[in-house]
Amino acid sequence: MDALKQEYLHVPVLLEEVVRELDPQPGQIVCDCTLGGAGHSAALARRLAPDGLLVGIDQDDMALNAARDRLDNENPSVEKVLLKGNFGDLDDLLVKAEIPGVDCFLFDLGVSSPQLDIGERGFSYHEDAPLDMRMNPGEHNTTAAEVVNNYSEADLARVLRTYGDERHARAIARRIVMERQKEPIRTTLRLAQIVRDAIPARDRRHGGHPARKSFQAIRIEVNHEMEALDRGLRAAVRWLNPGGRIAVISYHSLEDRMVKHVFSEMAQGCICPPDMPVCVCGHVPIIKVNTKRPLVASEEEVALNPRSRSALLRVATKLDTSDV
Ligand SMILES: C[S@@+](CC[C@H](N)C(=O)[O-])C[C@H]1O[C@@H](n2cnc3c(N)ncnc32)[C@H](O)[C@@H]1O
Repeated sequence: MDALKQEYLHVPVLLEEVVRELDPQPGQIVCDCTLGGAGHSAALARRLAPDGLLVGIDQDDMALNAARDRLDNENPSVEKVLLKGNFGDLDDLLVKAEIPGVDCFLFDLGVSSPQLDIGERGFSYHEDAPLDMRMNPGEHNTTAAEVVNNYSEADLARVLRTYGDERHARAIARRIVMERQKEPIRTTLRLAQIVRDAIPARDRRHGGHPARKSFQAIRIEVNHEMEALDRGLRAAVRWLNPGGRIAVISYHSLEDRMVKHVFSEMAQGCICPPDMPVCVCGHVPIIKVNTKRPLVASEEEVALNPRSRSALLRVATKLDTSDV
């Protein structure tokens, strides 16, 4: 595990913007739902001293170990509670840890650089490894290999289309089913080759690696990422103290669309038809959206950290609805 800790090199994205928008104050409670290597958390924790609390959640042991080391070194005086779990189960995690309420939430979605870089995790189409892609290896059973070898052709096409926006979804699904009949598909490079072969040559020349979208789609399916995000965001807003803020960084349009949708639903007031003389729906806004358009990385940041190119940051503030 020590070797893995040393390899935990992840540059936090939109760091300045996140700290500025969340603006944590001494004594407050910050909850980082995607702790990773604590790149954001270490900076947020600095603002909490001397008596604030940092709650860090990740489903990956490797991230939790690296984050614990970093926070102990850089923020020894700030109280921390690090929790292993899925932010889709935020209610349970915060209840069990007896957290009274939260002033700032951060979600920095997706995988970290080390998860991608360590070939054995099976996320990468560049290195040969067993097809795994679980962010919490060992905790639940469905691996990428099981998705690829057991799903029906129609289900595979749905996953590739919905979560990868892959326009060759049907051809790729057909090719996967054909190839797995010869021999089960067990490794990342074999899958990457099958995807590549299913895409017409003229369409392989642009848009990055031909397997990029398919790998993203299968990862989202394996980790139930969209369901967890929907549950996690709604729970986070419930736990926010009045005036508290939530910041979400997403890296593809599907996630960003969900963040935008959940935020606008919660920011919406009365939804009665316009000809209704009095409100009967009882709908009141519970948040104010601070970012009409998502914030993006500066050119300087993209030059230093290409991963930040696709990052979209949305922020909202919890309203005080106690006297509505
Ligand atoms: C992009 S990284 C976060 C990096 C972190 N902000 C930093 O600067 O070091 C995303 C992290 O969130 C974790 N993660 C993703 N989805 C999760 C979920 N549903 N529940 C808990 N952790 C999750 C991943 O394991 C990964 O460590």
